[in-house]
Amino acid sequence: MRLLLPGDSGLTPGEDLNLEGLAAAYAVPSDPWLRCNMVTTLDGAANGPDSRSGSINTEADHVVFELLRALSDAVIVGAGTIRDEGYSAVAVAPELQPIRERAGLAEALPLVTVSRAGFLPPTLRGAPPGDVLLATSASAPGINQARSALGDDQVLVCGEEDVDLRDLLGQLHSRGWTSLLTEGGPHLIASFLAAGLLDELCFTISPRLVGGDHPRPVGADAAPLDLELAVLVEGDGTLMGRWLTRS
Ligand SMILES: NC(=O)c1ccc[n+]([C@@H]2O[C@H](COP(=O)([O-])OP(=O)(O)OC[C@H]3O[C@@H](n4cnc5c(N)ncnc54)[C@H](OP(=O)(O)O)[C@@H]3O)[C@@H](O)[C@H]2O)c1
Repeated sequence: MRLLLPGDSGLTPGEDLNLEGLAAAYAVPSDPWLRCNMVTTLDGAANGPDSRSGSINTEADHVVFELLRALSDAVIVGAGTIRDEGYSAVAVAPELQPIRERAGLAEALPLVTVSRAGFLPPTLRGAPPGDVLLATSASAPGINQARSALGDDQVLVCGEEDVDLRDLLGQLHSRGWTSLLTEGGPHLIASFLAAGLLDELCFTISPRLVGGDHPRPVGADAAPLDLELAVLVEGDGTLMGRWLTRS
């Protein structure tokens, strides 16, 4: 990995980055913090022909994907992405545990899925106790099913009729989870942006075109927004950057 723009990391432009250097380039700047991590093709697709993002990412993107998990207290993912990508509970890669420890984060990495309907996606049923939470509203049709699958404590009621994402972040902060990562999908990212809650977009630009009709990484209903490029890294022809929503 080669650092093209170092931002405030104190690293040198052009430097080759090992995992420690990459962790410095992606250090969380303040607390609390919410960032997203998404991959896009050069023609703006958020998935490939199999409707999954795994067919458009690269090895370099995978390294950053795992690192961002390791630097987070919890990962927030929309229920649509859980269903489409077949997510199960998440974990930190063993080689990244030392970096995670040095960042002062707990060993466990909870997955928080967000759903209006409130049904726990099938691939998360049977996850080890405590590994998965579901955020929904009090009137969600699936809330009782989710409570019996996960336990009351793991179902976050964030509003009466719809999921209030600010309320969700507040509930995660009160559990001590303040360094937060969302891995999408596009509709959830658009909602976080619309609510003014996203501090940073970590985007990977994958060196391929897929053609066809694919979702964009940020849902089409997102409002225009100017971003500030903070860090840029290159690996295997893939560009990985950090864009801030406010300075
Ligand atoms: N390129 C990437 O990095 C990347 C990352 C993630 C996903 N993807 C791709 O994106 C596609 C899925 O897109 P998507 O936009 O449907 O994903 P999504 O945002 O994860 O899923 C939409 C669903 O998530 C829940 N949800 C999202 N925002 C919500 C909100 N504000 N409040 C309450 N619930 C909310 C709802 O679930 P309920 O229906 O249960 O109510 C909604 O139907 C897949 O093809 C996936 O592979 C790509």
